[in-house]
Amino acid sequence: MKAISNQVSSRVGLEALAVAVPRRYLAIEDLAVARGVPPAKFTSGLGAREMAVADPGEDTVALAATAASRLLRESDVDPGRIGMVVVGTETGVDHSKAAASYVQGLLGLPKAMRTFDTQHACYGGTAGIMAAADWIASGSARGRAAIVICADIARYGVKTAGEPTQGGGAVAVLVSDTPDLVAFDRGTNGVFATNVHDFWRPLDRREPLVDGHYSIDCYLEAAAGAYRMWRGEAVAAGLVPGEGMASEVLARIAYHVPFCKMAKKAHVHLRKSELEDRGVVLDEAAIAAEEIAAAASFERQVAPGLSLAARIGNTYTASLYFGIASLLHGQAAALAGERIGMFSYGSGCSSEFFSGTVGPNAAAIIARAKLDDVLASRVRIDVAEYERIMALAASEPVAESPASGTFRFTGSDEGRRTYATGA
Ligand code: COA
Repeated sequence: MKAISNQVSSRVGLEALAVAVPRRYLAIEDLAVARGVPPAKFTSGLGAREMAVADPGEDTVALAATAASRLLRESDVDPGRIGMVVVGTETGVDHSKAAASYVQGLLGLPKAMRTFDTQHACYGGTAGIMAAADWIASGSARGRAAIVICADIARYGVKTAGEPTQGGGAVAVLVSDTPDLVAFDRGTNGVFATNVHDFWRPLDRREPLVDGHYSIDCYLEAAAGAYRMWRGEAVAAGLVPGEGMASEVLARIAYHVPFCKMAKKAHVHLRKSELEDRGVVLDEAAIAAEEIAAAASFERQVAPGLSLAARIGNTYTASLYFGIASLLHGQAAALAGERIGMFSYGSGCSSEFFSGTVGPNAAAIIARAKLDDVLASRVRIDVAEYERIMALAASEPVAESPASGTFRFTGSDEGRRTYATGA
């Protein structure tokens, strides 16, 4: 168990992570058959395999508390080290009271801390992580660490275009000055924001309004803009050479993944915009060569980070962090000491491209998240059961005993929500 140090460290990043997912999932091919859509549209066209289905008892707070309690338990974190709890979410349970305050109470964390939520669509979790990282790097944390939980339920609604991209889950990360999992490259983050209506959810709505195809264009423009800024800063800092494709210097790139195919679109676009920025003229032969190069680079740099997204679906704020978890789950030993890129996008829109170095013990640390066990404990449901769950009122959770170590929403008294945990 690590102790608090009073030294201000120049290092900051992710020390450990843990995840939580809903108990049930739907095979995406079952959904395609029920909707009369060729399964290849969902599997190959969107890159989906399975989709998490949250019931009302598995709300954002329940998933966040489950992930955070696993983080404390499996990574043997002394609660006395925690000086900040942040929940990044766009599917909170109250317009005023923070999900972070529920998590603090449910986990019995110390009272001497900041608790708050961060919101900007799917970017909200990264906003929380960067706020925590800056708090630590500034010295204000005085050696303490932050738990940031990215938690969301991505719900588009039955028979909508977004239906096969639904999902839900939470990733809790420990942000500290001993970033044994991924140490951030401080001072090189690239950001890009613009005021667009690609996806939004007015206060009275349970499902978002989304201009799906436009949201893809907004994502791509933001990815190129944030990446361009990161590249400039990273070259100036000497992290990557000024010549050649900077993106290829990154061992892997984890993208925000609203659906898996989006990561491929993003990677191809990012490479194309980098070539254009360098003044490379893409004639017919060069375009054909770049298509082959981009496909190979996608398989090497990006595909390893998509395994969890393909099985859980969209998780909004948590999506990028499930991507980092996927990457490290399969390849942490090989990536030790390597630099990876990360891209976070939130509709509306705000985005960030940043980089960091994988720690030498990352394989042992990610093993504590027991990702295979978490996924293996889920149960497959059919489309009828999925539609029954989707029709349940959010405020009326069915009585169900929480599995060991997990939390469930049990009901509310004038909005005072109660939760149970499984022993
Ligand atoms: N076999 C294989 N692929 C097929 C297919 C088939 N039978 N039929 C369609 N496809 C492909 C399409 O070519 C397309 O791939 P492409 O984009 O590489 O060309 C993909 O499947 C999706 O088809 P499309 O017709 O675009 O789907 P859609 O109009 O039903 O909606 C989204 C797709 C992503 C717009 C929709 O799911 C959505 O609104 N999602 C939520 C918003 C979102 O995730 N935005 C992302 C940025 S934040």
